[in-house]
This record gives sequence, C-alpha cells and structure tokens, in this order.
Amino acid sequence: MEKRRPLIAGNWKMHKTSAEAADFVRRFLPLVSGLRDRDIVLAPAFPALEAVAAALAGSAVALAAQDAFWETEGAFTGEVSPRMLAAAGCRYVILGHSERRQFFGETDETVRRKVAAVLAAGLIPIVCVGEREEERERGQTFSILDKQLRDGLKDSFTADAGRLVLAYEPVWAIGTGRTATAAQAQEAHAFLRNRLAELGTPAFAAGVRILYGGSVKPENTAELMGMPDVDGALVGGASLQAESFARIVAAAQPGPRKGTAIEP
Ligand code: PGA
Repeated sequence: MEKRRPLIAGNWKMHKTSAEAADFVRRFLPLVSGLRDRDIVLAPAFPALEAVAAALAGSAVALAAQDAFWETEGAFTGEVSPRMLAAAGCRYVILGHSERRQFFGETDETVRRKVAAVLAAGLIPIVCVGEREEERERGQTFSILDKQLRDGLKDSFTADAGRLVLAYEPVWAIGTGRTATAAQAQEAHAFLRNRLAELGTPAFAAGVRILYGGSVKPENTAELMGMPDVDGALVGGASLQAESFARIVAAAQPGPRKGTAIEP
C-alpha cells in the first residue's frame, strides 16, 4: 500500500467573490509551486468555482466545493449537484461540515446520501465528523464519532480508499483559536482509523486520509502533521490569506507512519 499523501484543503466558507478568489490564486500559486509531494485543495463558495478553476488551470492545486445535493438534476431550488460541480472543475466536495449540521439541518442520513452521490459522480468527498464541546465533556467523543462514521459512510466502506477523505473537526476547535492538542487529534484519528478497519477492511483503513480541522495555523501545522494518523489539514480562517495558507502547506510535511493505527 502506498503511503498516504498529505492533503491540505482551504475551506473559504462564505468568503471571497470570484474576483477576490482569483486574486488569491494568482498570489498563492507561486508560493506553493515547489511543493509537489502533497495535495493542495481550495474550496471557494459556489459562485467563485469557475473563476478559481480558470485561475488554477495548469497548476497541481485542485478545486473543491463546500457541499453538494444528492440528486443529479431536478426541481430542487437552491441546490447544486455533483455532476454540475464536476463540470465546473471540482475534484473534491466537503460534506457534513459542522456548520451545515448546526445551521442547515444536515444529518448523518443526508451526509450518507451526499457521500454516495459524490462518489458516484467520480468526485472525492471530504467527510467531516467531530464532537461538540459538551459531548467531549460528557465523555461521548468516541460514541459521537462512531455514529457519524457508521451512519454517514454506511454505503461507502467498500469505496476505493484513495477516493475518500475524512476530516476530524472537533466543533469546539473551529474558528475559536482553540486547536486540539496533537495528542487529542491523534487519539481521535486512531479511533476513526480503527473503526474504518472494522467497518471496511484494514487495507481500506490504511489508505483513507484523515485530515485534522479546527484552528489550524502556520504555527501548529508541523506538530499536528507529526502525528502518525494525521494525514493533512482542513483549514478555515487561516486559508483566507495566500501567505498564511502557503505557510501551512509548506509546514505539512508527511508525518512518520511509525505508530499509525493501521500499518499501510
Ligand atoms: P477554522 O475552520 O480553521 O477557521 O477553525 C476549520 C473548518 O471549519 O474547516
């Protein structure tokens, strides 16, 4: 089994018009052009996708959407299908982000449908899971992660491991400046990888990349990436400036595989 290639994704959430997004790309690409041993992904808002796709043309940086609906087309006002995203140049789709769960009624069941549809369209889902602060305090972290994983990926444990990405994003660490410690991240990532082995196969679990998200900054990236089961980062606030996101990408060296929950 190949080593898991680091993946660093910038989630711009509801920031940047097309012009602002294209301007970011022009400044960002020269800063990361030498970093060819890792996957770099940008997730702009829907209206900026095509402008970013055009600005990224010819580069190794890939495009992601922040959500997708599970149907291919039809009377679903306001929704965007995986097929449309693929045609707009996307390779990845973020699904089940905690903000969508909190503000837009996303559930493990809607995540499950979306993951299946995104995979069927040939795109790579980045599926977000993570516990809220009160759940961690009550000692429910692992049971919450287990449920989100089991129900959200129910149809997808037989997928090609290289075509599925998980993101562990503790809700209490998102946008708060309170990053999980590297040890807390590793503990959750190892739990998720062990469950992937039980729900899928050990080879599947060894191949799925698990990103950490929640107040990732240039200063804490290397330590998080040093953990054996942390394969990359999903970055919100610190991905909005080209220099700061480029510093995170540069710091995201492949971690040691020694001590990984499941040996590749
Ligand atoms: P943050 O967001 O880096 O601003 O904490 C992470 C995310 O929501 O993906």
